[in-house]
Amino acid sequence: MLLSQLQPSADSSITRSYNREEWQRGYRSLKQEFEYSIDTITGTIPPELQGTLFRNGPGLMDVNGQPIHHPFDGDGMICAITFQDGKAHFRNRYVQTEGYLAEQAAGQILYRGVFGTDKPGGWLANAFDFKLKNIANTNVIYWGDRLLALWEAAEPHRLNPATLDTIGLDFLDGLLAPGSPFSAHPRIDPASALDGGQPVLVNFGIKTGLSSTFTLYEFTPDGKVARQYAHSISGFAFVHDFALTPNYAIFFQNPVLFNPLPFLAGVRAAGECISFQPNKPTQIILISRTDPDAPPLVLETSSGFVFHHANAFEQENDVVVDSICYNSLPAVDPDGDFRQTNFEALDPGQLWRFRIDLTTGTVASELIDPRCVEFPAVHPDKVGRDYRYLYIAAAHNPTGNAPNQAILKCDLQTGDRQLWSAAPQGYVSEPVFVPHPNATTEDDGWLLVMVFDAARDTSDVVILDAKDLSEPVARLHLKHHVPYGLHGSFTPQIFTPVSAIS
Ligand code: CO
Repeated sequence: MLLSQLQPSADSSITRSYNREEWQRGYRSLKQEFEYSIDTITGTIPPELQGTLFRNGPGLMDVNGQPIHHPFDGDGMICAITFQDGKAHFRNRYVQTEGYLAEQAAGQILYRGVFGTDKPGGWLANAFDFKLKNIANTNVIYWGDRLLALWEAAEPHRLNPATLDTIGLDFLDGLLAPGSPFSAHPRIDPASALDGGQPVLVNFGIKTGLSSTFTLYEFTPDGKVARQYAHSISGFAFVHDFALTPNYAIFFQNPVLFNPLPFLAGVRAAGECISFQPNKPTQIILISRTDPDAPPLVLETSSGFVFHHANAFEQENDVVVDSICYNSLPAVDPDGDFRQTNFEALDPGQLWRFRIDLTTGTVASELIDPRCVEFPAVHPDKVGRDYRYLYIAAAHNPTGNAPNQAILKCDLQTGDRQLWSAAPQGYVSEPVFVPHPNATTEDDGWLLVMVFDAARDTSDVVILDAKDLSEPVARLHLKHHVPYGLHGSFTPQIFTPVSAIS
């Protein structure tokens, strides 16, 4: 399809880069579980690319034909793509959560979703039902010999990394009490000064209400807890991600109000009771990693909504945080259908740089790029460090809000940009950066991107050369589509040799 054949947007000067009906098709359920060697490949898989890409995201948009209200309520489905000796293997499995098993057995929705999926029966069936479904659908990480599917409001599920079979809830050797929040956005400090320079995985859990308790956990590479510390901050917190530097864990407390009454009465999901407060400031909370007893530093910046941070670093007395910021956040509409999203009516997420002056306690903010972006990635050795290259899913057009159809590379030193676009019929997911094993520069490596190709009605795993995005190194054509996912990670480990399973 040519761009000129697409529908014009409300602003006739801009040609839409996508077709909404085609975009919607990427949100169909994938009920089948597969495992196969990927044998339809355009280009060549680099033989130096060795390891496993894990992806997580909602796989089911319905339970036995009953539609869920929001994709964030969809059951977690894990994909594993193994790369070895220029070959690749695909596998997907549903996380066998208590809720998934119960609903599949019953053939109907039994739980309330956070984002508006009511169980049938109307408000009476939903009133006073606080049993949320731990759907394990947001991220998947391999750390300390454990593969964990993450969902921020409860404990992780542990999976077998070779088969993706669910082992069960993982309380991290008794660290987490049942029902403890454990974020889906851990960050890995590549060289923790507190731990002799070894990598440390840092994650958090937030219990919120009239005040919010932020608990930080730091794990050594063998999965043992190096540090655990907690602080309480006044006010309700709707925080999905954080940023990390050698000395700080940094949170943006978005200006939102939570009205729990409709939730308690069963007429609204929790996600529908949150309203953005455009006239209130965002609070930036810096929690010391080196002195866990120090009270958190709380600063203010102008209103905006942040789901994801790209990176942060310390520079003399400043802490710099790069984040994807929205001017406003639409409320989850209880009567709306996410498939009918009017992209042009919404504010785009844009890349901003916040410079926090620790001496004066002031915050300066600067728009780095106006393009609509989400799902940032950086070189793993640059987490918490001054860095040059940012990779991020982006809209095809340089302005306006639209689905992610492209991958943008930002050179933060020179201001140069590179864009690889899958428009008009491709829709991209979060890029994952994998360094070349003999890398000499920060951008020496690959970007692994899942792309829904509406032309074939299936998905591809696309390998881009991070130095030069102009043409994919390889496109691995899957036999089916993969519903739009959320987050994932790469590990150089191979759990099942590709040769043994092909
Ligand atoms: Co996220």
